[in-house]
Amino acid sequence: MNASISGAAPSVLAPAGVEAGLLGELGWVLISGAAAIFALMAGLLAWAVRRGGKPPPHTAWWVLGGGLAFPVLTLSALLAYTALRTAELQQPGTQAPLVVSVTGRMWWWEVRYRTDDGQEVRLANELRLPLGRPAQIALQADEVIHSLWVPALGGKVDLIPGRVNHLRITPTQPGLHRGQCAEFCGLQHAKMALHVQAMPAGDFKSWLRQQAQPAASRAASAELLARGRQAFLRQGCASCHSVRGVADGARLGPDLTHVASRHALGAGVLPNGPGALRRWLVEVQALKPGARMPGYAHLDATTLDALGAWLEQLR
Ligand code: CUA
Repeated sequence: MNASISGAAPSVLAPAGVEAGLLGELGWVLISGAAAIFALMAGLLAWAVRRGGKPPPHTAWWVLGGGLAFPVLTLSALLAYTALRTAELQQPGTQAPLVVSVTGRMWWWEVRYRTDDGQEVRLANELRLPLGRPAQIALQADEVIHSLWVPALGGKVDLIPGRVNHLRITPTQPGLHRGQCAEFCGLQHAKMALHVQAMPAGDFKSWLRQQAQPAASRAASAELLARGRQAFLRQGCASCHSVRGVADGARLGPDLTHVASRHALGAGVLPNGPGALRRWLVEVQALKPGARMPGYAHLDATTLDALGAWLEQLR
């Protein structure tokens, strides 16, 4: 995976959010507890071997204490600790959460935000979240079960057709955090990444305001771009993809209104940049075999250039 779109290696050992921090603490306490008990048992075993099989003094005390009281006490303590700590993940905080909806599709993520004035904004394969504010993510699926896991930010939650699951994450460190589908969901399960960009609240606000705008209107200014726009409509792209302000309503494929502003194409398959969208049009079935978009290698180079140029200015 290209480093520029994968961000730091996703790791539960490097939490970048409140919930992931709590889960990390939980993990360390359980691992330390297990290690301490293992060391104690190894010590007792060594002692028993050194005694050459002679029974210890107070045999009944060892059986009742070591075989019953000790495991009951330690396991109850660890159980109570994990139950209390994980319950905190469900408790509503004092701060109003940002509500985002993520739908698992085959094989990409549809992301929906609502702006303060109630407008719905559809995006794909990329979540941007403000730092320090909890985000309540409503998880749904269309056809099959997926599972969302962003190791640096929180636990893993399934997306199940017909129900809505919730995941709360509160990013505390800025940066790009890679998430991945963690439940086998078909041919391209492995190529189903979701990038989470944690950013200062002010930047997030202006980003969302920008994403709520219709597609860039300078489309028709140059001849090349006008041809690209025309090709988009003529080749039937708009039967699957929406570009707000150009052709709205299609929901089968990712909304492309601001596709050029995303880090990657095809749910983490191809880093976005000059030429990437044109390449995707031609090589989609080689880059992501089985993706529900056909390749457009049959189009002539002029049309592909125009289409690529037009898509690339949808920032
Ligand atoms: Cu979606 Cu695996």
